Amino acid sequence: MPPAGIFPPFGKRKDKRMMGSASLAGLFLLVPPCQSDPMTENNSDAIQSPNGTQATPWCFGTMQFGGRASAAESARMYAACRAAGINFFDTAHVYTDGMSETLLGKFAGKEREELIIATKCAFDAENSRNSILKSFDESRTRLGMDSVEILYLHRWSDVTPLEESLETLAQLRQQGKIRHIGVSNFSAWQVMKARCIAEKLATSIRILQPMYNLVKRQAEVEILPMAKSEGFAVAAYSPLGGGLLTGKYGAGKTGRLVEDKGYAARYQPEWMHRAANALAKLASDYGLAPATLAVAWVAHNDAVTAPILSARNAEQLAPSLAAMTLPLPPELYQAISRLSPTPPPATDRLEEA
Ligand SMILES: NC(=O)c1ccc[n+]([C@@H]2O[C@H](COP(=O)([O-])OP(=O)(O)OC[C@H]3O[C@@H](n4cnc5c(N)ncnc54)[C@H](OP(=O)(O)O)[C@@H]3O)[C@@H](O)[C@H]2O)c1
Repeated sequence: MPPAGIFPPFGKRKDKRMMGSASLAGLFLLVPPCQSDPMTENNSDAIQSPNGTQATPWCFGTMQFGGRASAAESARMYAACRAAGINFFDTAHVYTDGMSETLLGKFAGKEREELIIATKCAFDAENSRNSILKSFDESRTRLGMDSVEILYLHRWSDVTPLEESLETLAQLRQQGKIRHIGVSNFSAWQVMKARCIAEKLATSIRILQPMYNLVKRQAEVEILPMAKSEGFAVAAYSPLGGGLLTGKYGAGKTGRLVEDKGYAARYQPEWMHRAANALAKLASDYGLAPATLAVAWVAHNDAVTAPILSARNAEQLAPSLAAMTLPLPPELYQAISRLSPTPPPATDRLEEA
């Protein structure tokens, strides 16, 4: 059982997140970041909805809409997110043959002004001007929206010069079709290269979307420290390791890691499954669902602006939403962190880590 009184007062962690710029103020005095804190309300670069509402520090990802989640289940999950106060939704041109964007656009409907909508272009195509413009036009049609708050390059391209991709995004921004530019699945050097080019074009990279969860901690080495230092927002995807961290595979159940070869390979190492089983045991000691602890652990990292939650139905989603009101005391955060290896520092000087 957890020691009595281990949980700090309700809402403490979220308060800390909302004060992000204040808590980093000392650091900024010494080394001013090139971009400011996206969670600050008075920042003109703040990530906010068309009616000026700040993005919630929780995002919902609609990758399952119209795929593993039927339209009816997708509607239930959307409603559950809205009831929980989430106003930040993530989709992509490549998801479920367009159904993800179509359903999200339909649900957003009349409350569009209150929402932060992020989509992504160019996953299975080049990041060329033509490809970005074509896919983004399709995305806007499917969403039924003239503009979105965030458009990400879904991943790095070895084919298209970054200048061409960013010039295109800068133009879309100038035209008011996108509010912020983001990049997903970029390494740290790729982000900084993109930012240099963006600055020359008088625009900026506002938000990153890396994979990050208890068994995928590579982002801790370069991406997250860079984001804190340079003021990039971070929307972290796959907080449950594609479902591994729900503990269901240790309990003999099935899901994406069985159904999808790519995810099976991504989460194949045995130590990841041992960590998931250990997380399930720890969660049971606290009377919590493993998914709640896994999501809360990602959210607790002060470089993470918003974890991107997801599920295939509303029942699955409930334990992830429960993380929104779970303060994670330092002892429990550290106990969870010890369940998987901390990645070595970028300098490889292990003795100094
Ligand atoms: N930028 C990128 O390249 C990228 C990549 C991936 C995702 N994303 C974004 O991030 C979002 C979240 O990613 P993700 O779907 O990988 O997140 P995740 O939270 O790691 O995995 C969600 C999956 O875990 C399983 N699950 C969730 N809750 C469960 C529960 N209570 N019990 C049992 N199984 C449960 C479900 O899959 P099954 O039922 O199928 O097992 C569900 O679809 C996506 O919707 C998308 O918006 C972005």
